[in-house]
Amino acid sequence: MSVRVARGFDRLAPFYDSLARLIIGKGIKQSQLHFLNHLRDKTKLLVLGGGTGWILPSLFEINPKLEIDYVDISPRMIVQARRKVLPNNNIQFIVGTEKNIPQSDYDCVVTNFYLDLFDNDKLDTLIPQIRGRLLPEAYWLATDFVSISRWHKIMLWLMYYFFHVTTGLRNRRLPSWRIKLTEAGGTLIDKKNFSYDFIQTIVFKF
Ligand SMILES: C[S@@+](CC[C@H](N)C(=O)[O-])C[C@H]1O[C@@H](n2cnc3c(N)ncnc32)[C@H](O)[C@@H]1O
Repeated sequence: MSVRVARGFDRLAPFYDSLARLIIGKGIKQSQLHFLNHLRDKTKLLVLGGGTGWILPSLFEINPKLEIDYVDISPRMIVQARRKVLPNNNIQFIVGTEKNIPQSDYDCVVTNFYLDLFDNDKLDTLIPQIRGRLLPEAYWLATDFVSISRWHKIMLWLMYYFFHVTTGLRNRRLPSWRIKLTEAGGTLIDKKNFSYDFIQTIVFKF
């Protein structure tokens, strides 16, 4: 399963960002940049499912001292992400999944369009597993889809179908990612919607 997903995202890697921009519009990036200022005073960041790494220059611009562990299942996504950083940036790239998160203590984590890859049952174990690596008062920035209208549901159905066909992704429904973060003990600090409420970006404190 993981190998197929990795190969699928490898195939998408060269045009993933352009495709996302074409389908969702500029909100796809604006949403992920919106709360980065909350990371200004943080020191150790875990990024999961980071993709092509387009966000990395903005992260290091906000906080040049940030130390980042950057995990993605797709080797080609990681190759692209490596090209986005400067030699003096403190970042470790890891081709892998949640099973390969380094044994470190993090004071912040970023999951953008990552929690939607899993179903609710998986999030019941995955979120506490990630939470177990967080220091007290850590911030969790998450950006993901919301399904509150008919066109959201249609878009999500189409997108899950696309990812199922191209990457073998098994999950076909948007999980209750915000509820799961709350159930894991997170306190909502801030939130904002983008792209006609199709995308929500949130900051949780753990
Ligand atoms: C929908 S893309 C989002 C990429 C990026 N966060 C963005 O918003 O531009 C999901 C990313 O997660 C990666 N991925 C999929 N399953 C994963 C897993 N189990 N562990 C880590 N990364 C995974 C994919 O390779 C892909 O880069």
